[in-house]
Amino acid sequence: MSEKKAQLVIDGKEAAIELPVYTGSTGPDVVDVQSLVSQGVFTYDPGFVSTASCDSDITFIDGGKGVLLYRGYPIEQLAEKSNCLETCYLLLNGELPNAESSTEFAQQISSHINVDEQVHHVFNGFSHDAHPMAMLIAAVGGLAALYHDSLDIDNAEHRMQVAHRIIAKIPTLAAMCYRHGINQPFVEPHGTLGYAENFLHMMFGTPGADPQVSPILSKAMDTIFLLHADHEQNASTSAVRLTGSSGANPYACIAAGIAALWGPAHGGANEAVLKMLYEIGDESHIEDFILRAKDKDDPFRLMGFGHRVYKNFDPRAKVMCQICDEVLDDLGVHDDPLFRIARKLEKIALEDDYFIERKLYPNVDFYSGIILKAIGIPTSMFTVIFATGRTPGWISHWNEMLSHPYRIGRPRQLYKGHTKRDYP
Ligand code: CMC
Repeated sequence: MSEKKAQLVIDGKEAAIELPVYTGSTGPDVVDVQSLVSQGVFTYDPGFVSTASCDSDITFIDGGKGVLLYRGYPIEQLAEKSNCLETCYLLLNGELPNAESSTEFAQQISSHINVDEQVHHVFNGFSHDAHPMAMLIAAVGGLAALYHDSLDIDNAEHRMQVAHRIIAKIPTLAAMCYRHGINQPFVEPHGTLGYAENFLHMMFGTPGADPQVSPILSKAMDTIFLLHADHEQNASTSAVRLTGSSGANPYACIAAGIAALWGPAHGGANEAVLKMLYEIGDESHIEDFILRAKDKDDPFRLMGFGHRVYKNFDPRAKVMCQICDEVLDDLGVHDDPLFRIARKLEKIALEDDYFIERKLYPNVDFYSGIILKAIGIPTSMFTVIFATGRTPGWISHWNEMLSHPYRIGRPRQLYKGHTKRDYP
């Protein structure tokens, strides 16, 4: 039980309400307000700015210091020393795998990588110019229709099987979104390839031909997936948890996460960054865009800047910037105009009082778009890539929630509408 207490005095009441205060392994304490409903009051926190919605052991962020830990390991160390699949295992199981479990996990994922022929029909129902995120939501939600027989969400083994399935199939589905969009036949995954390597093969390979994927680009792709793998209780992860709290099928939960990710304030920002850089077009126009971003009467915001949690450099953005250099070097693009605009924009914004006062720094999306574009991935696929990378995090949160007692998520409201009135 909690030793620390908070006291809340509500106007007009004599006795203070005593609330337990909990301390996590690190990070701010939290005040447990669950008993307030019995006192006839709710807490009010639009946007969940001060609300912890759950306990979690998966990811820790210190936004003030620019720290991101997966299961305690700093993201920079994982990006340098680990790889995407090992990190998926870590998120899902809590510890890094040993050599044997690493091989076993890779085999598990590989055994689930193909999708049923039926799924092809989902894509065929879409026109070729459909947004790939719309196709991804439909395809992932559609998996619920195929893989529902051995799915008991209260059974830990079943949950793990689902996690493996979804982690394995999401790159295949993502690549299918792209191939359908360009009206080209799907490329089957190849048994000998690594996770990100296979994804690039399914995107850009030729059906039936031997895979030819650049090791630098597949390493970059692998790191992009790893950097996106989890980010604690953001909008999409919260959507997955909220959906899962009703006992919904996990594929439906992941589809809900993908839908929440789509918006430009969340995963859609990487697409918006590139559009913005194109719109800026030339370094001489940067100042105009900075002025627009600062103008309260203009809805324009600098895409790829600012974050609800980070009030410092997003540690993922630092790694992204480094990969960006490596990828552009590998591709011989030494003087990419978009990269030049991005670097200059970053420099100007970081020296501008408006951005300094509000602690607005580049976030993960600022550089990821430039890398993805250099790899040859079209802008409309950027958020699909984010969703592919984030899936291990979503499914780990879903599994964590179902591993402990949980209740359906059901926020309340401050009602400001009409009081009761009669129909005229
Ligand atoms: N450009 C200009 N001004 C900004 C920006 C920006 N990108 N971001 C925030 N501000 C200003 C905002 O106008 C407000 O100013 P004031 O205090 O004068 O009213 C102040 O900074 C605080 O902003 P907020 O909207 O209260 O912050 P938030 O925590 O609600 O929003 C955010 C966070 C990420 C939605 C926002 O910073 C934003 O819209 N950024 C651009 C979109 C973007 O890059 N999103 C990707 C986020 S990282 C990927 C992910 O994890 O999903």
